[in-house]
Amino acid sequence: EKKKQLIGKKILINAGPTHERIDPTRYISNYSSGKMGFALAEECAERGAKVILVSGPVRLKTIHPNIFRIDVESAEEMYNATLSKFSEIDIGILCAAVADYKPLYYSENKIKHKANEPFSLELTSNLDIALALGKMKKSGQILVGFALETENELSNSIEKLQKKNLDFIVLNSLKEKGSGFQTNTNKITIINMIGKQKEFPLKSKKEVAIDIVDYILSL
Ligand code: C5P
Repeated sequence: EKKKQLIGKKILINAGPTHERIDPTRYISNYSSGKMGFALAEECAERGAKVILVSGPVRLKTIHPNIFRIDVESAEEMYNATLSKFSEIDIGILCAAVADYKPLYYSENKIKHKANEPFSLELTSNLDIALALGKMKKSGQILVGFALETENELSNSIEKLQKKNLDFIVLNSLKEKGSGFQTNTNKITIINMIGKQKEFPLKSKKEVAIDIVDYILSL
């Protein structure tokens, strides 16, 4: 039987990729499956928390009755849903792989293919949800971010943690076999505000979720 240490806590989790629409038939996205965020939502709910799960387009089900799920498609929708809930929550876990860019213009009609002609799509930056929440954060609220880097992993993660005013950041490496997108396992390093690192072995995403929740409870 699980210890219900999170009874009375409200936790906001975002998960999955976002889809940035190009035209009625196409979008830009990434390989995020949402599995890590959904495992965190389950773990928090099992420990008694009320969870608001803002999810991008994923093929996953939520079963726990304590999870209130909001499905979104784009980064902008995820931004709006997440920010509107932030004032009422105790802990925010930003697990989503939010698309960094979206098409500057949406085409109402399907863009025609023209053979042998180069095609370029103009992109514009999406808003950074973590950055916005970091600015809104009140004392007592805890904000957790994720980082996935292919180079300078530690220094880039520490930079993000500080810039976005996170309490800690969970680094998952694409270099580790069995870590990162689509897999059922993950290998993480947690880095806190004073730059202290804690490395964990490769585990199932369910077990990784347990480690992350235990870490939050240790703060
Ligand atoms: O994309 P980046 O590596 O900066 O992501 C680090 C953290 O910031 C993650 O927790 C991610 O969910 C969050 N993020 C966000 N909004 C964005 C981009 C990233 O909340 N537009």
